[in-house]
Amino acid sequence: MDFPKENKKNILNDFYRPIRKHSDRIKLYEYISTKEKLIDAEIDYLEFGVYKAASFKWWMDTNKNAASKFYGFDTFEGLPESWGTYAQGDMHADLPLLEGNRHQFFKGLFQDTLYKFLETHSLGKRKMVIHMDADLFSSSLFVLTNLARLLKEGDIILFDEFNVPNHEFFAWKVFTESCYIKYELLGAVNNYYQVAFKIVR
Ligand SMILES: C[S@@+](CC[C@H](N)C(=O)[O-])C[C@H]1O[C@@H](n2cnc3c(N)ncnc32)[C@H](O)[C@@H]1O
Repeated sequence: MDFPKENKKNILNDFYRPIRKHSDRIKLYEYISTKEKLIDAEIDYLEFGVYKAASFKWWMDTNKNAASKFYGFDTFEGLPESWGTYAQGDMHADLPLLEGNRHQFFKGLFQDTLYKFLETHSLGKRKMVIHMDADLFSSSLFVLTNLARLLKEGDIILFDEFNVPNHEFFAWKVFTESCYIKYELLGAVNNYYQVAFKIVR
């Protein structure tokens, strides 16, 4: 995995900073939205790991295109496996109640909901913004591998806990290397904890 050095000078990247401020992920969202002209774009936004919909709501509020679609996937019963100091079942939440008619939530394990979703929804024509916030290696690798065939140049993939070496980072490494996915780094905050990549061809 190689991030070209020259990129770092031109993009938002706070590496190396020894502290983490979770709210700085919003800086990354704002940066990506502006740089990639997402605010008025017609997009398919897919978020894996919704919890109480904090990030999901930010993206819905920020993207103004009436034709955009926002799809959120979660067990809403918490993590299916332990992750670091979090136990299985931590982060359970009620199904979020959000205003508007552009969004849909899919309750259950990704491993149970994603196949049917892909059969019944037409994706791949509009720019996809995929937000990976499921923390776990298994969840992340499952989703990425199943979306691989739909990815096209310009699609954006964000991670929320990227620099955990045996989870999101490892899933990305295995996925990109085994599916031959080419990408560039769009931006990173919190010392690569939150990152955004763009698919290139
Ligand atoms: C860190 S939270 C998401 C946080 C949220 N994006 C936010 O901004 O607050 C991670 C979520 O991923 C969900 N999750 C992890 N693996 C999953 C899986 N295989 N299927 C469904 N949900 C999963 C958990 O239920 C949990 O709610």
